[in-house]
Amino acid sequence: MTPEAGGCDAGAVSNEPSHSASRHLALDVADYDAQIRRLVPYYGDLLREGVAVMKALAPPAPRVLDLGGGTGALAEAVLEALPEATVTVLDVDPEMLAVARGRLARFGGRAVFVAGRFTDALPLSDVVVSSLALHHVPDIAQKTAIFRAVNEVLYDDGLFLNLDATMSADPALTALAYDHWLREMGARGVGEAEARGYFAAWAEEDTYLPLADELAALRAAGFPHPECFWRRGPATAYGARKID
Ligand SMILES: C[S@@+](CC[C@H](N)C(=O)[O-])C[C@H]1O[C@@H](n2cnc3c(N)ncnc32)[C@H](O)[C@@H]1O
Repeated sequence: MTPEAGGCDAGAVSNEPSHSASRHLALDVADYDAQIRRLVPYYGDLLREGVAVMKALAPPAPRVLDLGGGTGALAEAVLEALPEATVTVLDVDPEMLAVARGRLARFGGRAVFVAGRFTDALPLSDVVVSSLALHHVPDIAQKTAIFRAVNEVLYDDGLFLNLDATMSADPALTALAYDHWLREMGARGVGEAEARGYFAAWAEEDTYLPLADELAALRAAGFPHPECFWRRGPATAYGARKID
């Protein structure tokens, strides 16, 4: 899922000579943020809910890893809300990372950038977060492997938090979630045909799994008490603490 239906990196940074790089980055961030709010219901709520859970459960001065951090929206929310936190933004796309770098420059050394994949060796962390990124993992077996790797790099009492779209094992309930998504897009001026076009484009690279499967995968990966913290339509904040 991406504001540009063509792919996560499409249009992230352009090379028009008439604008300064920093102005470009600012425009890209503003465009991206506006678009994602148009297309993804409750995106702002998801970030707020995630940050609230983190504030409640993270240790002091947490080392946070943001998987698929993209343009840095979640990292920015974390860095603002937790003044002692440091955030490593990991993303496979160097153009997204360039935008995140510009957006997070004001936080200095509290924001670190890593070009890499979810499946690469991950840094030890107090909190691992992700927003709208792990739906790029195509099946539950690969997702379970990533959850296991996350569990291994979390310190004891660490927290994993995923903010993403989830569906249901019951097709009727999945249909309801898509109806909800359509309604919310409609309320932001996205007509049904355009919305269905986005769904079709995203379906080529995104997989929204049943929430029950996500929670079961977390349990299989070594998190004893996975939990859904917040859900509205497809928008879901879920995760678990690492407990021995
Ligand atoms: C829809 S964007 C979401 C970005 C950001 N978290 C947000 O909330 O706006 C998904 C991000 O995941 C990244 N991504 C996709 N597959 C990845 C992978 N295998 N490893 C690391 N990053 C990946 C993309 O490059 C993109 O920046």
